[in-house]
Amino acid sequence: MGLWEKRDDMIVHEVEPFNAEPPRGELADRVLTPVESFYSRNHGPIPELNPQAWRLRVGGLVDRPLELSLEELHARFTPRTLVATLQCAGNRRAGFIEVRDIPGEIPWGSAATSTAEWTGTSLADVLSVAGLGPHAAHVAFAAPDVSPLANPPQPYGGSITVQKALSGEVLLAWAMNGQPLPAVHGAPVRVVVPGYIGARSVKWVHRITVGQHPSDNYFQATAYRLLLAKTDPPTAGPADGLPLGAVAVNADILRPDDGDTLPAGPVQITGYAFTGDHHSITRVDVSLDGGRSWRPADLDDQISPWAWQHWRTILKLPVGDTEITARAWDTSGATQPESPVPLWNPKGYVNNSWARIRVTGQR
Ligand code: MTE
Repeated sequence: MGLWEKRDDMIVHEVEPFNAEPPRGELADRVLTPVESFYSRNHGPIPELNPQAWRLRVGGLVDRPLELSLEELHARFTPRTLVATLQCAGNRRAGFIEVRDIPGEIPWGSAATSTAEWTGTSLADVLSVAGLGPHAAHVAFAAPDVSPLANPPQPYGGSITVQKALSGEVLLAWAMNGQPLPAVHGAPVRVVVPGYIGARSVKWVHRITVGQHPSDNYFQATAYRLLLAKTDPPTAGPADGLPLGAVAVNADILRPDDGDTLPAGPVQITGYAFTGDHHSITRVDVSLDGGRSWRPADLDDQISPWAWQHWRTILKLPVGDTEITARAWDTSGATQPESPVPLWNPKGYVNNSWARIRVTGQR
C-alpha cells in the first residue's frame, strides 16, 4: 500500500498536502470506487482526530444550538446511506494547462472523480432538531485543517444554501463503502454534498453555522470561483468571478488510455459521465472523426441520482493515429463544449470540454 493506504500506483501530485488520483483505467467498469483508489484532495495537513473527543457544534441562526458527540450523532438520528460521486472542480485541469499554463495549481487528470456509498446522518435531520431562524439562508461548514495556501492561512471551510442543506441528500457521513471513514477522507465525520463540486463536501467537519450569507472562508469566498481569463488570481478578492456549486455535465474516456497502441479493428471504449444537482445523463456519444459523426454509447443503469454512469461502445479502430472523442448530454439538454479554449480560467476549474484521447491502431 502507498501513502494514506492508497494503491501503490496512485498518481501522487503532492505528498504534503496529500493530493492523488488513481490511474484512469482503475475507475472503469465499477460503480463504487474502492477506498484505496478514491482520489484525495487536500489543502493542508490531514488531521488525525480522536473520535471520542470529537464534537459537532451547530449554531448561528438556529433556535437551539447543538453540541453532538459521535455517539449522539449515531444514536439520535436514523442513519442514511446513498451512493454519490465526488468530483473536484479541478478535475481535468491538465487539459486547460495544455491551452495555457496555470502556475501553482495541480494538473489533475480525469480521475479527480470517484464514487462511494456514504452512510451518515442527514444534515436536514440535524437542522430540524436545531430549528432554523427566519433569516437562515446559508449553512457553513468548518474544519480544523489549516491551509497555508489560503490568504491569509486559515482552516478549511465552505457553505451551501439552506435549500440544498434541507434537501435530505446532504450527509454528515461517517462510513464509506461500508467501512469507517478513513482519516484521509475526513474521519470521524465529513459532509457529503451530492451533485456539488467536491470542495463543498467538507472533511473533518466540527462546526456548522447557519447564516444569512455564504461562508466568508477563503475556499468559498475567494477560491473555487470562475475568474475571468484576464484576472491574475493573487489579485482576486472575495466575490470576484462566479461561485461554483452544482457540477456541470462532463464525461471522460477511461479505457483505452491516452497514448495507447492497440490492434486495429474492433476496440471497446469505456468511460464515465456525470452531471450535477437534479439532472441525469441522457446520452453519451463517441466519435472517431473529431466530432463530424457520432455514435451513441451504451449507458449503464443509474444506480443513484447522485452517481456517475459508466458507458461503453465498440468502434472499429483504423490503422494509424486516431483521436477518440466523447461527449455527454443531460436532462437539462446541456452537452459538453467542444474545446477547452473558451472555458480556460486562471484557476483551472470545470474543464467539461469533449473527452479526447489519442491512440494508435497497429496492423
Ligand atoms: N475538507 C477539508 N477540511 N479540507 C480540504 O482540503 N478539500 C475539498 C473537500 N473537502 C478539503 C475538504 C475538496 S477541493 C475536494 S475535491 C474533496 O474534499 C475531496 O475529497 P476526498 O479527499 O475525500 O476525495
